[in-house]
Amino acid sequence: MFVCSRPSRARAERLHLANHVFGLIGPDAHAAVMKIGRVVYRSGVGEPLLVAAMLSQIGTGLFLAWHWSAAPQGFHRTFQVASGAYLSLFILGHMNSVFIYARSFLGIPTDWNFAIGAPTGLIHDAWNIRLLPHYALGAFLVLSHLASGLRVVLIAHGVDRLAANRLWGAGVAISTVISAAIIAGMCGVRIS
Ligand code: HEM
Repeated sequence: MFVCSRPSRARAERLHLANHVFGLIGPDAHAAVMKIGRVVYRSGVGEPLLVAAMLSQIGTGLFLAWHWSAAPQGFHRTFQVASGAYLSLFILGHMNSVFIYARSFLGIPTDWNFAIGAPTGLIHDAWNIRLLPHYALGAFLVLSHLASGLRVVLIAHGVDRLAANRLWGAGVAISTVISAAIIAGMCGVRIS
């Protein structure tokens, strides 16, 4: 639902998440990578295109979810539809937080401190803690949704279903590790 026909958008999402993995090194590393990314995704051309791509993704994704959920599906397809449905809500809420709440309403920078709810942080604040499952699921589901899309494409191209399912399983395992790494970094874990 979310991806394979749109490789450039998938690339942007992977880059965005790769940026957050740098939080494991520290806020400075995260800021340095974000500064490079911003040259593209916050440019006069890049940002409207990104927002339009996200909104069209939500629209087409919900349409496909409506279509595929009309009849019973197997486990993999159900996971694909459910993850896409969550991402539709996640992306809308996330863009609302970044563009409307933080940048327009509060007028604060949407940087590392914003992401981790500084100064109290994600885990020592009764309100910020809600962001932990929100971000963990967002990162996990966007990556495993990509793996689900890849599985469908591989099967459509004649790859053995069992092999495609195993690759999907590996993709989901990698998504879990990456999501956990991002959240660990956001909660203060450092690797150096
Ligand atoms: C751990 C998970 C995530 C965290 C902590 C996070 C955090 C952030 C932060 C701090 C910004 C502001 C960036 C800036 O000011 O340059 C941002 C922007 C954005 N994020 Fe995320 N994000 C996460 C996951 C995602 C996912 C999964 C998606 C999409 C599938 C996404 C889509 C976006 C978009 C479209 C923007 C707006 C980019 C712009 O400024 O033009 N994010 N995010």
